[in-house]
Amino acid sequence: MRDFLKRLPKAELHLHIEGSLEPELMFALAERNGVALPYASVEEARAAYDFSDLQSFLDLYYQGMSVLRTAEDFHDLAMDYFRRAHAEGVVHVEMHFDPQAHRIRGIELPVVMEGLSLARREAERELGLSTALIMAFLRDRDAEEAMAVLEEAAPYWEMLDAVGLDSAERGNPPEKFVEVFERAARLGIPRVAHAGEEGPPDYIRQALDRLDVCRIDHGVRCLEDPDLVARLRDEGVVLTVCPLSNVRLKVVERIEAHPLPRLLEAGLRVTLNSDDPAYFGGGMLANFEACQRAFGWDEATFIQLAGTAIEAAFISDARRTELR
Ligand code: HPA
Ligand code: ZN
Repeated sequence: MRDFLKRLPKAELHLHIEGSLEPELMFALAERNGVALPYASVEEARAAYDFSDLQSFLDLYYQGMSVLRTAEDFHDLAMDYFRRAHAEGVVHVEMHFDPQAHRIRGIELPVVMEGLSLARREAERELGLSTALIMAFLRDRDAEEAMAVLEEAAPYWEMLDAVGLDSAERGNPPEKFVEVFERAARLGIPRVAHAGEEGPPDYIRQALDRLDVCRIDHGVRCLEDPDLVARLRDEGVVLTVCPLSNVRLKVVERIEAHPLPRLLEAGLRVTLNSDDPAYFGGGMLANFEACQRAFGWDEATFIQLAGTAIEAAFISDARRTELR
């Protein structure tokens, strides 16, 4: 089964590239840039990744990315991940990135875009890996700042496959960002949003109704609202589910209790993703294997899950045909 899961062509639709920063590279970049880390060793960093909820993770996630300073750093970050993903049988990666988290530290958007763009071209050329770019807004910061970032990104609008919404969900409903998402819609940029990870089912409704998103990131709490489940099924809305993330952030108690089987039984279109692989115990293959162990799914189920991701990916029809 491991061999089958590894060979299965997998598309990853929910990854935060800053969350792919492994402690080894974090230490190397800290040294290169003269940045002090709060950990004495790689082992100590890994041991600190013991989270009680989303916020306790975000604190370390924002701290970890302080080593990213130059375009070369962003290039190295992305290539490091693309190589690992490629080795696990991943054929397409859609990466969220958090421009505000860098701007706050004085790292401007062109630096981030230069590094990520270089890595994307290299991944395509050297690994045959296609990639997409999702510029995420931090929902725990104000909407004016998000709007300013969207305008600042004007030179890069053509390169954005979507805009997204991430960071601390509770108390930061999608409707806070209606104007920003309307602006993105007018620009012809597709929209996705994290909703229903820690936040209530109503946030999933808001993301659909107020932000007009084409996919929901996480969405696992939809099961608390049967009408919403029916709607997601009828409209064929894709959920980008991240099982190991949900366990590590205590959205679910343990993998065996994860709602994935119930989401599938309800007829929803779900995909498996890694979210922040460096922090949550593994990449795409680890997530697929964890599900196999927990739920005993057969090959057909994994083929269906991987197929849904390819159907829902921001890729050309030609590339989609190639990946099917
Ligand atoms: N949830 C919300 N925001 C995030 C996450 C996540 O899992 N990872 C990075 N930003
Ligand atoms: Zn996420």
